[in-house]
Amino acid sequence: MTILNNLKAFNAALFKPNKVDALPIHLIFMVIEKCNIVCKTCYPRTGKKILDSNKFYDSIKRLPIINVGISGSGETLLYPDLMPLIKKLKSNTNPSVNVTTNGVLLEGKAEQLFKSGIDTLSISIDAATPETYSALRANRKNFYKILKGIDKINKLKVKYESRKPKLRGLFVVSKYNIEEVSQFVELSKSIGLNEVYFQHMIFRMEMLDWKEFLGEYTADEIVNKMKEAGRIADKLNIRHNCNEWANKDDIWQRYNDEPLNNYKKCIFPWMSLFAKENGDVYPCCMLYYYEPAKMGNLYEQDIEEIWNNKKYQKFRQLIKERKHPNPVCKKCLAPEIWDSMKRYLRLK
Ligand SMILES: C[S@@+](CC[C@H](N)C(=O)[O-])C[C@H]1O[C@@H](n2cnc3c(N)ncnc32)[C@H](O)[C@@H]1O
Ligand code: SF4
Ligand code: SF4
Repeated sequence: MTILNNLKAFNAALFKPNKVDALPIHLIFMVIEKCNIVCKTCYPRTGKKILDSNKFYDSIKRLPIINVGISGSGETLLYPDLMPLIKKLKSNTNPSVNVTTNGVLLEGKAEQLFKSGIDTLSISIDAATPETYSALRANRKNFYKILKGIDKINKLKVKYESRKPKLRGLFVVSKYNIEEVSQFVELSKSIGLNEVYFQHMIFRMEMLDWKEFLGEYTADEIVNKMKEAGRIADKLNIRHNCNEWANKDDIWQRYNDEPLNNYKKCIFPWMSLFAKENGDVYPCCMLYYYEPAKMGNLYEQDIEEIWNNKKYQKFRQLIKERKHPNPVCKKCLAPEIWDSMKRYLRLK
């Protein structure tokens, strides 16, 4: 069932039919709205909802999921049911599990997280120095707290001779930190991260002024800085995604007022499901605050009913035809099918 479903899902991602006869194999969900810090790029975290873990698990347990991403519209490690939920997911289809966190509480939760058997821990840092960290994310003391948390996980990995969890440093690139991308690679290596992942800014509806976030930087400058970071990462033997930043035209179109041509490469609506704390389903995590892109609700409908409803089919058709379904898709540099497949295959 799982293998056949996987084949059908990859087939759907390649050929992009409006109606998909495979169930989603990739699941990303949010567990909590509350946060313990305030970041410049993010929303004000005023919500109080948390995921009902039993209800949620019941609604998705039939899915032949091979890959799960757990995050929050707030801070993931504040969610009280995180470890039991990971355990349930693992004992079901044994998916590869990635938890994304700001890392502030990592030191205290390191042991539990390590024992939960997660495959990847992604830690959002966005800076190579405490000064830039405090300008973008939080009090500089938290920068050192994150480093301590990472160190604790690494010590557990050594003690138990485990390669898991793989540690990934996340870095949302903007004019505030782009000068530190190479230094971030070096820092990541020195603190024992296995991978660095440079993310593009996601533009919320009320801040569609994309130029603001990369200021006066030209596409050439951005590409060159990312290439240099990639070269250093190769030399230090640390995994990276700098090659996803290599296309000057993509960068130019994204950060200027021009339609982006490559979003048709997006495969999310064909194989991936994203759910919010309240069970609302969206095609991907970039759209979760954009109400018109809501496809249904896991607590009110079966997944099959949502997955191929008229709205989902229309959305897939628009993406395939390169007609922007919304302003976020218009500016999204979604990964190509091959990049995504490599990531799926590597994670399993
Ligand atoms: C919303 S946070 C939730 C998990 C956790 N609180 C954290 O910071 O990792 C998920 C990811 O989104 C990133 N992020 C925040 N604002 C963003 C934006 N405007 N564009 C792209 N990514 C953003 C964060 O850096 C983080 O890696
Ligand atoms: S990026 Fe994460 S840590 Fe920062 S405010 Fe948003 S949810 Fe909180
Ligand atoms: S925002 Fe990007 S990843 Fe999400 S559905 Fe649109 S194009 Fe795909």
